[in-house]
Amino acid sequence: MKSTLKTGILAALTASTTVLAQNYNQTGPFLLQVKSANNETLDGQYLYACHAGAAIEGLCLNGKAVPNMLAAGTQFYWNYTTYQGNAAPTGPLVWNLPLSMDGSVTYASSPMSLQYYSFTNVAVPLFEPGYGSDAAQVGFDNDTIYMLEWFNDSTFVAGQYPTQTSQQIQNWHVCSTYVGTYYYAALTWVTYGAPRNPTCEPVTLQKVALP
Ligand SMILES: *[C@@H]1O[C@H](CO)[C@@H](O)[C@H](O)[C@H]1NC(C)=O
Ligand SMILES: *[C@@H]1O[C@H](CO)[C@@H](O)[C@H](O)[C@H]1NC(C)=O
Ligand SMILES: *[C@@H]1O[C@H](CO)[C@@H](O)[C@H](O)[C@H]1NC(C)=O
Ligand SMILES: *[C@@H]1O[C@H](CO)[C@@H](O)[C@H](O)[C@H]1NC(C)=O
Ligand SMILES: *[C@@H]1O[C@H](CO)[C@@H](O)[C@H](O)[C@H]1NC(C)=O
Repeated sequence: MKSTLKTGILAALTASTTVLAQNYNQTGPFLLQVKSANNETLDGQYLYACHAGAAIEGLCLNGKAVPNMLAAGTQFYWNYTTYQGNAAPTGPLVWNLPLSMDGSVTYASSPMSLQYYSFTNVAVPLFEPGYGSDAAQVGFDNDTIYMLEWFNDSTFVAGQYPTQTSQQIQNWHVCSTYVGTYYYAALTWVTYGAPRNPTCEPVTLQKVALP
């Protein structure tokens, strides 16, 4: 659960977060929890921002006990906007990366994006400062977190311009997988179909109010 930050990258972080700061409203902090109808071990486990590289974190299993509110890495935010033509607001999940520095900057607001690979349908959520434009746009159905499918290419017809859809999908899984270069039991997003990774188990992802 340790997150360390090399002092040398502070300048880059503050520069990129300034450039990419968008006009979002923010809610939080809240906790993130997975729910599983089929797996008692997974059901109700909280998630924490687990170290995946310099200033990069994934979301890993953190047990069923309510996390210590003083522990770093268990509280998250949602930056949302209604500007994108959607009926409901969407925007990135955010983790505040603590910066052990003096001066006015105490954290770097780090949006969640998905790390896709060219050879598997299992994508890995990562929080990383400065990735605002690639951030995964999520929405809330009550407390559960979804993403929007803009088009369904399984219905495409050659030469015929498709109708756009805006379907809410929830393809969250917990898998044993690489998160950066570390191997964890972590939250993932399966792009389509059954996950290629046989350790993956479907879960719903939801926010829980702080105790
Ligand atoms: C439940 O999930 C845990 C953690 O991913 C896994 O080790 C275990 O095999 C799963 N149990 C069943 C019954 O699927
Ligand atoms: C933020 O909330 C205010 C008050 O509801 C609203 O007027 C504004 O348009 C919102 N901004 C964005 C970016 O959604
Ligand atoms: C999230 O929204 C807050 C409040 O508007 C802002 O300070 C922060 O920079 C935003 N973070 C990202 C990654 O857009
Ligand atoms: C969300 O909350 C509303 C109002 O409480 C309820 O009617 C609806 O069934 C809930 N939806 C889900 C998916 O739980
Ligand atoms: C995409 O379209 C196919 C074929 O109509 C349908 O079976 C499937 O449920 C759709 N998927 C989504 C996520 O909308």
